[in-house]
Amino acid sequence: MALEKYIRDIVDFPKKGIVFKDITPLLASSEATSECLQVLLESLNKQKIDKVVGVESRGFFFATLLAQELNAGFIPVRKPKKLPFNTISASYELEYGSDSLEIHIDAIQKGDKVLIHDDVLATGGTAKAVCELVEKLGGEIVQLNFIMELSFLNGRGKVKEYPVFAVITY
Ligand code: PRP
Ligand code: MG
Repeated sequence: MALEKYIRDIVDFPKKGIVFKDITPLLASSEATSECLQVLLESLNKQKIDKVVGVESRGFFFATLLAQELNAGFIPVRKPKKLPFNTISASYELEYGSDSLEIHIDAIQKGDKVLIHDDVLATGGTAKAVCELVEKLGGEIVQLNFIMELSFLNGRGKVKEYPVFAVITY
């Protein structure tokens, strides 16, 4: 199945000059979602995963599906002040200024095998911050996987230490 045709380009969203990759057509198709999930799972080559970390908000959809299929727990990484319990945070650079992400301090046990999932790898700033959070808690990162990679932004360069997989590369 050609999954690319379930990704819709939205020109000038959220800002002029940006072509937004919209995954809602993929999510709206049970067949495409199932196919995408299978491709993500196969990339893991049956490696054991204890926790799947999903990144708010668009990373949540497939991270929960992956966690169930892998018999692993789902762990949310969220934008600031959204998580109710004690958190640690990591910041990352934006085009102007910076932002941060948080995780619950008890979300990962030392030595847990962790899969990090998000919808898109763009500049890699988000992914790098999530890796910092997981490692601060003692997790071992097995893989970072994404539905899409915008390779011209070289996000992989920011997370060179880890295996990275993307279903679709632009
Ligand atoms: C988008 C996307 C990734 C991130 C990738 O999320 O869903 O999480 O940016 O960009 P980067 O590799 O340059 O860091 P966004 O922060 O827009 O939030 P959302 O998922 O809640 O829409
Ligand atoms: Mg996101």
